[in-house]
Amino acid sequence: MKIETFELERRQSVWENRVKFNLTESGVHPYKLTELLTPDEQQELLSIRLGYGQTNGSDELRKTISQIYGQSDSDNVLVTNGSSEANFVVTWSLLEPGDELILMLPNYMQIWGIAKSFGITVQPFHLKEELNWQPDMEEVKSLISPKTKMIAVCNPNNPTGAVLTEEVMEDLISLAKDANAWLYADEVYRGAELSNIESPTFWGRYEKAIVACGLSKSYALPGLRIGWLIGPKSFIEHAWSYHDYTSITAGLLSNWIANKALQPDIREKIFSRNRQMLRENLQILEDWIDQHGDKFSFIPPKAGGLAFLRYNFPINSTELTTKLREEKSCFIVAGDCFGMDNYIRIGIGSEKNYFISGLKLLSELLDELSLT
Ligand SMILES: Cc1ncc(COP(=O)(O)O)c(C=O)c1O
Repeated sequence: MKIETFELERRQSVWENRVKFNLTESGVHPYKLTELLTPDEQQELLSIRLGYGQTNGSDELRKTISQIYGQSDSDNVLVTNGSSEANFVVTWSLLEPGDELILMLPNYMQIWGIAKSFGITVQPFHLKEELNWQPDMEEVKSLISPKTKMIAVCNPNNPTGAVLTEEVMEDLISLAKDANAWLYADEVYRGAELSNIESPTFWGRYEKAIVACGLSKSYALPGLRIGWLIGPKSFIEHAWSYHDYTSITAGLLSNWIANKALQPDIREKIFSRNRQMLRENLQILEDWIDQHGDKFSFIPPKAGGLAFLRYNFPINSTELTTKLREEKSCFIVAGDCFGMDNYIRIGIGSEKNYFISGLKLLSELLDELSLT
């Protein structure tokens, strides 16, 4: 089975660990275990026997996750290897060739690529900058057909950092209900709000709503590779049997650490540290944009360690980001990865001085290319 290159991931995979300044990361500066666990917990971790563990996720972890959401118990939860595995399992287990998938764009392009490779018809709808990165619901409505099997969104959104309004969320649910379609929401950036207000979840609003989340972005723990699905019990049972074929289970140690990180007090500490870092860097970015006159414009992100900037000078986004990487060892994401030239995505979740250094290199390049 053929599959298109996943441009966003491929470019990041090759370069993110080889450059001096990686500003492609959309999460927040990752934790060390010593910052997360008490000395006693670190000792306890060392004594865990390395078996397989419970393959749909440890009972403790699934219970903890279900308690975060409410209206659920552990049988509503499947633990996966990152939310990327959750996206894969949902697409693979629910959609058949010939089905239609209505998909929000721009987006992390994983579901787009997998669905097309499986022979599913992808019907995109667009977040519109002129609508403050909200969709035009008439456009979504016009895509509904008897073959519509799922509406899939990424909320908060990668790459714009936009959060859907309550009204749009309810309209999407009502369209999904009328079409008897699944409503699938990748909510991996939920919790990384620039304000202190957690964005609303799609969970619990509709009996065919499924939500994915994980520890990679708003929890700043991507190295654990822990994600999850929360959905109706019959779907979770069904998805588990597909998960048996992908990776069997997420790592035992990661399950254990994830259960610590998701305890209410630790979760709050993580969110508050991350939001503080994001707010500080967003201010730095806004000042930097001001220094560049009208060359950049953007709608500040509401959530996530990312900012999606439109630029007003004549260079292709892949060319710009390649030059920055090759000449300055600084790496940002080209709008081309989202099919949107003349945009760049800059990660705002790194440590402050590192972030400032990366922005300086971008300024230097723009000067040298006489683009500012
Ligand atoms: C929207 C979205 N979903 C899923 C993923 C995959 O993340 P992970 O598998 O690390 O949870 C990403 C990564 O950038 C993402 O942006």
